[in-house]
Amino acid sequence: MRLDKYLATYAQMSRKEAKKAVREGRVSLDGEAAVREDGKVTDGQEVCLDGVVIRAEEFVYYMLNKPAGVISATSDRIERTVIDLVDAKGREIFPMGRLDRDTTGLLILTDDGALAHRLLSPRYHVEKVYEFWYEGQLVPDAVRLAAEGIDIGEKTPAKPALLELPDSPESSARLTISEGKYHQVKRMAAKLGGHVTQLRRVSFAGVVLDEALQPGEYRPLTEEEVIHLREAGKG
Ligand code: URA
Repeated sequence: MRLDKYLATYAQMSRKEAKKAVREGRVSLDGEAAVREDGKVTDGQEVCLDGVVIRAEEFVYYMLNKPAGVISATSDRIERTVIDLVDAKGREIFPMGRLDRDTTGLLILTDDGALAHRLLSPRYHVEKVYEFWYEGQLVPDAVRLAAEGIDIGEKTPAKPALLELPDSPESSARLTISEGKYHQVKRMAAKLGGHVTQLRRVSFAGVVLDEALQPGEYRPLTEEEVIHLREAGKG
């Protein structure tokens, strides 16, 4: 690949900025200052920009702490979307799955379509953990019912889920599910006697929401987190 294209793709610069960086002597190839922006980068060669190695990452992955009030779509003429919150430096990212507009918490954004497709497929049973707050009273055997699979009005009952009820005066709960039906948590909670007033996703496919991220903030996934995702995508 041409050096300027490599830099544009993996250092997320424009071609113009990439060419300028080479002219300014800020780029090296295997430790030697690069002189030609149209020179070739071959497999295994180390490209540095300002002394920092620029790896040929095929895909990007971000963790967003989704705030309430934005929709999980790639574009919308009226509403603000999760994509509007992330500067993906020209990458065409999309959300891995959907959270309702009023749901907050962990949403992964990526341009890795194949992995997203696998992780969202019902065949892979990817675990998602939610915390929710509710009004009303959950039925006494809510934990057992969730574990058995609640009928939420679909052809088949929801898959067995883990409901955890913390020993606290607040009406809150934690629910681990392995599918992603429309409004699933709210519908399951409703069947158990609770009206969800707040919903937050704290984990997806073994990747846990970074509590340092304020709502609306995001960061790239760590290598370890990407490995978790890929493992989950192996089924
Ligand atoms: N379940 C819901 O009801 N809403 C979400 O946003 C996610 C899961």
